[in-house]
Amino acid sequence: MVRQADDPAKVTRNGKIIYDEVMRLEKIVNGLLAFSRPGVPRFEWCSVSETVQDCIERILGGLDRSNVEVGVDCADDLPAVYIDRAQVYQVLDNLMRNAIDAMPDGGWVRISARAGAAGEVTIEVTDTGCGIPPENMDAVFKTFFTTKPTGMGLGLALSKKIIHDHGAEMLVTSRVDEGTTFTLVFPTDYGQLRAAGLAEDAVTDNSSAKGGRTHACGADRR
Ligand SMILES: Nc1ncnc2c1ncn2[C@@H]1O[C@H](COP(=O)(O)OP(=O)(O)O)[C@@H](O)[C@H]1O
Ligand SMILES: [Mg+2]
Repeated sequence: MVRQADDPAKVTRNGKIIYDEVMRLEKIVNGLLAFSRPGVPRFEWCSVSETVQDCIERILGGLDRSNVEVGVDCADDLPAVYIDRAQVYQVLDNLMRNAIDAMPDGGWVRISARAGAAGEVTIEVTDTGCGIPPENMDAVFKTFFTTKPTGMGLGLALSKKIIHDHGAEMLVTSRVDEGTTFTLVFPTDYGQLRAAGLAEDAVTDNSSAKGGRTHACGADRR
């Protein structure tokens, strides 16, 4: 750039390349940091509907989704879940971004939450995007697997790790050219949390976090 300092067009172009590369490297470093240090989870009993609504509002504030319709369908009377809200936010943010990336020509994404037969709570993110080919269904959760020109391939790997730390499960179903559903399955009672090796300190009374309110039990882990 110094040698070409007398050519303003080249200086501008090279300056732009340097800027873009720095931004790209920043993205990689941030992605790696998030993956290697998701942070010590701060679990608390939370209302599912309140958590999902909060997360979606914040996520949508920062997303360009002009051609994508977003619907939220969350029952109010779901059992509370024992979660780190910031980490669950990160998972929903990853899933929403992926859904929107999968619909360059528009479509809709729906976030829904419901109670399962065994007392668990499921949160689903469904899109009408390009879908995932059968041969990639396992690979999508692997670190650095990406099909996007500027993808990092860390979003789902990190999300899966976070969900696992919650004693929860993450599942995916997909059809090429039709769409994809990611399902998060959270345990809701003390017995299930214990069985998952979690939450010795989870309070047994989680009733105050049902519906609209959130009850923090101050359960700092580690
Ligand atoms: N909703 C989705 N629809 C279609 N493909 C998806 C979806 N979510 C994830 N994928 C696939 O999984 C890959 C990995 O996703 P992710 O780990 O978030 O990394 P990245 O978004 O950086 O590519 C994506 O590149 C894409 O191929
Ligand atoms: Mg992603």
